Amino acid sequence: MPVHKSLLPSLLVLPLVACGVPVSGLHAADPPASESPGGLVVAAEPLAAAAGTLMLDRGGNAIDAAVATGFALAVTYPAAGNLGGGGFLVARIADEDGATRTFALDFREVAPAAATADMYLRARAEGRESASTLGGLAAGVPGTVAGLISAHERFGRLPLREVLAPAVYLAENGFNMTRRTAGFLASPGIRAGLESDPASRRLFYPEGEPIAEGALFRQPDLARTIGGIAEMGAQGFYEGEIAALLVSTMRRSGGVITLEDLAGYRPVERIPVTFPFAGHTIVTMPPPSSGGICLQQMLTMLERIGSEGAGLAEMGHNSSASLHLLAETMRRSFADRNRFLGDPDFVDLPLRRLVERGYLEELVRSIDPDRATPSADLPGGSAPGREREETTHYSVLDAEGNAVAVTTTLNGAFGGKVLVEGAGFLLNNEMDDFATEPGEPNLYGLIQGEANTIAPGKRPLSSMTPTLILTPDGAVRGVLGTPGGPTIITNVLQVILNLLVHKLPPQAAVNAPKIHHQHLPDAIWIEAEIVEDVRENLRRRGHEVRPRGWIGDFQLIWIDPQSGRALGASDPRGGGSPIVQ
Ligand code: DON
Repeated sequence: MPVHKSLLPSLLVLPLVACGVPVSGLHAADPPASESPGGLVVAAEPLAAAAGTLMLDRGGNAIDAAVATGFALAVTYPAAGNLGGGGFLVARIADEDGATRTFALDFREVAPAAATADMYLRARAEGRESASTLGGLAAGVPGTVAGLISAHERFGRLPLREVLAPAVYLAENGFNMTRRTAGFLASPGIRAGLESDPASRRLFYPEGEPIAEGALFRQPDLARTIGGIAEMGAQGFYEGEIAALLVSTMRRSGGVITLEDLAGYRPVERIPVTFPFAGHTIVTMPPPSSGGICLQQMLTMLERIGSEGAGLAEMGHNSSASLHLLAETMRRSFADRNRFLGDPDFVDLPLRRLVERGYLEELVRSIDPDRATPSADLPGGSAPGREREETTHYSVLDAEGNAVAVTTTLNGAFGGKVLVEGAGFLLNNEMDDFATEPGEPNLYGLIQGEANTIAPGKRPLSSMTPTLILTPDGAVRGVLGTPGGPTIITNVLQVILNLLVHKLPPQAAVNAPKIHHQHLPDAIWIEAEIVEDVRENLRRRGHEVRPRGWIGDFQLIWIDPQSGRALGASDPRGGGSPIVQ
């Protein structure tokens, strides 16, 4: 398709609001967020956020902006932005008839028709130890293109060509390699993986060395692929030349996705998980994400604790008493997650029971305020899949109050490290989110949930939790989400608590140090900024405390209740930025 060169000046003059919070700013009490009188996009990479804001400037709505940002991230943030992966979208959006509704779209990858429950056990027995994480066999049938295009068909206002033009432009003309991606490419583990695939090696290590920060990075094959999608819609990806290239990549990389798998992929509209918390309504992702159900369980438990005695606010933000309670609710919710949750189209999930008040009160009563409950004493007791730490989230708000939260992933950084030759995009390794060894101990010596075993056409259980916070009258108060595997759920939990219970300003809510507990292993992971005194008090209560590097890369939009202004807060742990209209 013709490239809209006129876009470049627009991209360059957009107000690039740098996050401006240095790493030491994680300690800052009240760092500023970026403010917008109109709409804004907050994403993990500024050019991609600018692509979205450009759509708002041109009269597009939040869906146009989200789709433009999603495709641009596939170009500018290849570790996690993607065409060859999947994700979830949660929106509050005006329909064609003017009625405002909340909407959840599941474009998670599915297991190919040739997948079997024991496929990775067999691969391992044949000496292919990493088959669920590295190479073509790790890939599920991609959902991102179908998902974003269907959201655009349903709610978008601008022509698809215009919405995808920034992504085509950035792929064709190139952009300066970001520090973050350059760092990934140079890191030995990622380099070894990407260099094991000839097409990835040629793209990312053209002279035998990783593309350096600041160097012009052009992706002409990817530009053609996105240009074809702009012309033909999702068919331009799931059928014809691109589908054929994907299938021939499968042949050389040990994968099993067929033309029929691709032609048969469909995103699924789901009913969002919706529940009250602290005078607001939380709208979030249902299964096959575990995020919404766990969030509802944990917030309801914590609200219950608050109504019976000293609540989290009185205990103090990140005090040992409040972190102990957080860890205990996380432990209980993850025990349920790992035992009961999976793809709702394949397994009967006891969802009503899991969020029933009486059941959650029972869980609350089992919490000792002074003592950690050993995870072994709780039922459940299976580990989540070995989720990898690279995914990305973007939050969008338009001037009319439409809001879109999208979390998308290839699973691991650069997915299975396999690039579709001639089409320029990477394939996911999402199959590793299934319980790949049913009935057998996994790498950690744990038995994984039956609900999440592999079957053809099934979606692997996810933790991705794109979320909206609505006011009592249904207006948007917050748009949020983060990467981080299982820490996604506990991070979203803590940012909601920081905003609604501890009343922190948005940037401080994002920056605040986080903890994570996932039932097993039986330990609290804790970011460095949580002080030693608090750690010691947690140890005294019987917790094993494990230090952990940064948790997440949060992207938050918050509408200030007093001024009504939209504020964007991008996580200083990552390289993103709010871009305001
Ligand atoms: O769907 C999931 O839960 C995982 N595949 C997400 C992985 C992830 O967040 C890694 N990111 N940092």
